[in-house]
Amino acid sequence: MKILLFGKGGQVGWELQRSLAPLGEVIALDFDSKEHCGDLTNLEGIAQTIRTIAPDVIVNAAAHTAVDKAESEPELVRTINALSPGVIAREAKRNNAWLIHYSTDYVFDGSGDEPWQETDPIGPLSVYGATKLEGEQLIEQSGCKCLIFRTSWVYAARGGNFAKTMLRLAQERDKLSVIDDQIGAPTGADLLADITAHAIRTAQQKPEVAGLYHLVAGGETSWHGYANFVIEFARKTGVALKVTPEAIQAVPTSAFPAPAKRPHNSRMSAEKLRRNFGVELPHWQFGVTRMLTEILESGK
Ligand SMILES: NC(=O)c1ccc[n+]([C@@H]2O[C@H](COP(=O)([O-])OP(=O)(O)OC[C@H]3O[C@@H](n4cnc5c(N)ncnc54)[C@H](OP(=O)(O)O)[C@@H]3O)[C@@H](O)[C@H]2O)c1
Repeated sequence: MKILLFGKGGQVGWELQRSLAPLGEVIALDFDSKEHCGDLTNLEGIAQTIRTIAPDVIVNAAAHTAVDKAESEPELVRTINALSPGVIAREAKRNNAWLIHYSTDYVFDGSGDEPWQETDPIGPLSVYGATKLEGEQLIEQSGCKCLIFRTSWVYAARGGNFAKTMLRLAQERDKLSVIDDQIGAPTGADLLADITAHAIRTAQQKPEVAGLYHLVAGGETSWHGYANFVIEFARKTGVALKVTPEAIQAVPTSAFPAPAKRPHNSRMSAEKLRRNFGVELPHWQFGVTRMLTEILESGK
């Protein structure tokens, strides 16, 4: 099997390089790859790459993910998050290749407190959410064989992440304010990559699984709950912290004004994924504990 991966240097792209390797030949590209164009702002270049490589499976992990910055450069974001996935889908259809793509909880308006289903009405609040939604729609309209995974609050041990920021702040400050009115599930890039590999294998045998899925870790929390978990874990592990548990203050989203609006309710039901692929989604604390163990051990 020949697999073409876009966005190899991102959180998910990096983990996909590992998880896809046992499936076959992986050609992994970034925006500045030399031999083949991997820059999603170059629509013709991306189409040419797919025609030249003629992959069996295309995995698109590239995206413009800077949610606040996106508000000030909507055309660029639309090209990367919507038009380019549309071109990739068109070429996948022409090649009879599978396309695996990632989308987001930000396609929803964040109302209510029930987990969103794949069939629920969408209502993005930001440029990022709107362009990711248009990407989904262009892929669906292309008629290619696809799996679109909507996920949320993605983290990885590699690079910067929310947990590392909290750990640093907890060492520097004696008081922290963290948002407690956005609810979702922190989801590891490693889990996304492992489920992707499993799903590609399943799709080869059962093409009828094609479609849109919510792919998130189990359970739910707020950013405040997430921060508490991280700091408590660090404390138990013996990390010297300035902040006390009582000094981690819960505040509303409005305490941190930002250019992009975020959904309050990012709960997503992964029931369809469980059913169609026979997978279990571990609780978010399982993956976060592993990530914390890795970063704290590597810091010693
Ligand atoms: N991160 C989250 O919390 C989150 C939540 C829900 C859904 N998702 C979705 O999950 C997928 C993977 O996200 P992630 O967390 O792995 O994001 P990420 O770490 O930001 O990775 C995205 C990758 O795309 C690259 N990229 C940006 N512009 C590009 C271009 N013009 N051409 C080619 N590559 C380009 C980025 O490069 P640079 O880093 O050099 O810009 C980066 O390597 C995306 O579809 C994202 O929308 C993410």
